[in-house]
Amino acid sequence: MGLSNTIALLLISNLMFGVLGNAQLTSDFYSTTCPNVTVIARGLLEQASRSDVRLTAQVMRLHFHDCFVNGCDGSVLLDAALADGVEGEKEAFQNAGSLGGFEVIDEIKTALENVCPGVVSCADILAITAEISVSLAGGPSWDVLLGRRDGRTANRDDAVAALPLGPDSLDILTTKFSEHNLDTTDLVALSGAHTFGRVQCAAITNRVNNFDGINGQSDPSVEPAFLQTLRRQCPRGGSPTALVNLDPTSPDSFDNDYFKNLQNNRGVLESDQILFSSRGAPTVPLVNRFAENQSEFFRIFARSMIKMGNVKTLTGTEGEIRRDCRRVN
Ligand code: HEM
Ligand SMILES: *[C@@H]1O[C@H](CO)[C@@H](O)[C@H](O)[C@H]1NC(C)=O
Ligand SMILES: *[C@@H]1O[C@H](CO)[C@@H](O)[C@H](O)[C@H]1NC(C)=O
Repeated sequence: MGLSNTIALLLISNLMFGVLGNAQLTSDFYSTTCPNVTVIARGLLEQASRSDVRLTAQVMRLHFHDCFVNGCDGSVLLDAALADGVEGEKEAFQNAGSLGGFEVIDEIKTALENVCPGVVSCADILAITAEISVSLAGGPSWDVLLGRRDGRTANRDDAVAALPLGPDSLDILTTKFSEHNLDTTDLVALSGAHTFGRVQCAAITNRVNNFDGINGQSDPSVEPAFLQTLRRQCPRGGSPTALVNLDPTSPDSFDNDYFKNLQNNRGVLESDQILFSSRGAPTVPLVNRFAENQSEFFRIFARSMIKMGNVKTLTGTEGEIRRDCRRVN
């Protein structure tokens, strides 16, 4: 067989593998087996978020922290103590004392088990509720692709290694995203999720009070008046669990203010501001594009969420459909 034939075959098999791999997730996956899945999830999430405005942000973050650790397999939901030999990802320092929203996921799972037992995976519940959360907060809607199955294991060390950190350099952030086939555009668009939700002082105190380990020093990329605000909210020696809005201008709504804040050097995390303040970086024009046109941000954000939701999914007969999202069957 000639070289060009071999290459053609490789191309074809790659194409087919890609098509088959993605074809397993479909927006109508539950249309006959659990047609009301989205209605049920939306009702419960809407109700719970009425008494807790932060809940939508917490729930959408769960999908991100699920997908970035060995794929979107519901592993983030497993309680270490309830699964044999499983090191819970909840114990990773990026997650411990930081993730929230597990109760409403349990509530939705219970409701779904009542109407269509053993059908809807916990991984899919996270994908569905991420979309609902964004749209409830005023952001875009999109057709969620479904058909994921749940993993039977979790991995705390993988979570520690894979989940990005505020002080990560742009190179490291780019690498952590590219490991999941997410490019620079995805990195910038998905970071726009910091348009809602909160951060604990523990995550920003070094940036404003002890930058580079120097007492009293701050990250020079923070706009001076905003630095004073952050220092007031997170004084040196203050409570590490005090909460700060990730988007100071519209803390609870999903809009493109996050990118306008970055243009004003009012990004809260280093990993936020670095997208705009790294001179010459390919992220800068993307920040400007999303700051100037909210519809464009929404369009690309939805596309990137679908891409993220496709990371290493279990499909077909792989994994299982958990009965309880906190433990393997
Ligand atoms: C680019 C790298 C990222 C870094 C370094 C990062 C880091 C963080 C940190 C440190 C917090 C605050 C946690 C705490 O203090 O308890 C946070 C909150 C949050 N993150 Fe990210 N994040 C990143 C990307 C993302 C992405 C891609 C999404 C979703 C698509 C996301 C969604 C959220 C949300 C919604 C919150 C607020 C959650 C709440 O209110 O509890 N983040 N992030
Ligand atoms: C779906 O929900 C609607 C109203 O919420 C209800 O009328 C309908 O019977 C449900 N369908 C199924 C198949 O459960
Ligand atoms: C903003 O983005 C939308 C969606 O991508 C596009 O249709 C529209 O033309 C853009 N508007 C401007 C002023 O560029």
